[in-house]
Amino acid sequence: MDNNRETLIEIEGLYQIFGPTPNNVLPKVKAGASKEDILAETGHTVGLQDINLTVKRGEIFVIMGLSGSGKSTLIRHFNRLIDPTAGKIKVSGENIMELSPKDLITFRRHKMAMVFQHFGLMPHRCVLDNVGYGLLIKGEKRAEWKPKAVSWLDAVGLSGYEDQYPSQLSGGQQQRVGLARALCTDAEILLMDEAFSALDPLIRSDMQEQLIELQENLQKTIIFITHDLDEALRLGDRIAVLKDGKLVQIGTPVDIMLHPADDYVQAFAKDVNRARALSVQTIMTPNTEKLVANTAAEAKANFPKNKEYAFVFDNDGYQGVLTREKLESLEDEAPLKGALHHIESVRPTDLLQKVIPLSLNSRFDLPVINKSGELKGRLEASKLADVLSPK
Ligand SMILES: Nc1ncnc2c1ncn2[C@@H]1O[C@H](COP(=O)(O)OP(=O)(O)O)[C@@H](O)[C@H]1O
Ligand SMILES: [Mg+2]
Repeated sequence: MDNNRETLIEIEGLYQIFGPTPNNVLPKVKAGASKEDILAETGHTVGLQDINLTVKRGEIFVIMGLSGSGKSTLIRHFNRLIDPTAGKIKVSGENIMELSPKDLITFRRHKMAMVFQHFGLMPHRCVLDNVGYGLLIKGEKRAEWKPKAVSWLDAVGLSGYEDQYPSQLSGGQQQRVGLARALCTDAEILLMDEAFSALDPLIRSDMQEQLIELQENLQKTIIFITHDLDEALRLGDRIAVLKDGKLVQIGTPVDIMLHPADDYVQAFAKDVNRARALSVQTIMTPNTEKLVANTAAEAKANFPKNKEYAFVFDNDGYQGVLTREKLESLEDEAPLKGALHHIESVRPTDLLQKVIPLSLNSRFDLPVINKSGELKGRLEASKLADVLSPK
């Protein structure tokens, strides 16, 4: 994710206190009384306190915390399923507390779609109807929504399952239907509350991978809730850590691992196998120049300035690494193929553990290339060493 994205969601000074008279209790909470004291003294539960955060358009923003830390409570504010005791929620610059009931319905239907932990599919409707349901309730005709539902089912790898019923599918498949249904609404924001938590580890890992791959093309804004730090590190462009209703840290996966804000985050972070938890995109150097060339003459004309070597691409995509030194020894008309070092590329989604041997065996940075063949950055061995050496 690039860092210059615009802000899509802003949460400012958000408090949520559960109980009969939350406004009477609010001053005590603001004065710093603990969750336990508030409960003991007033019978109120502090759900969230002083939450401030922004979510940028196109990022996967993960909210991570133990059970009861307030994750679901927080996500329910994004589409105003609950109103805060205090604080502001803005989406695309609009204060959603000021929406009329009618605008609120439109906002929920068009702006956000939810993927649930227990799938939330309708058992008596076939897979296709489940996927198209959001469009159906918006009043779209079957002939209009059907092709979209079919194509989203294809995108999640479930072509051919249109006429099956949810009970005929495995858990992983049902959750793919849930994902296709959310994507089919064309909502800009996906809210995923522990969406993969009910799945077996291997299926869960597949779903994570699929979500990252889909996101490369979709560029949706995804708010993903999990209690699992490994999942947070794998998926999140940024991660917000919640504890007892308070935000303890917001940062990139690498920030969280290398610079935990306090002992609480540190305790989580120390048990993580970094090589298995972090993906290449979390440590790659983005915006690498590529060299598009077929002959030495083209390469000489286009060689990146001040670089000793370059990643060469032709019409068939990535070909290998060319050093400036080697290039200078070539005749202009020489084809490049024979002059290249065959350095394997890696994917942004690859886990570090997979790329360690490649990096160790290469005297060059590794090109990071996505599924569509685009150069997204390069992986430097020193970055890998930094992140893998215990601190
Ligand atoms: N409707 C409610 N009434 C009273 N307390 C609630 C309500 N919803 C959530 N809580 C409390 O708020 C806290 C956060 O809950 P929740 O947001 O569900 O946590 P998480 O999703 O992180 O497991 C918990 O202490 C929970 O008991
Ligand atoms: Mg929850």
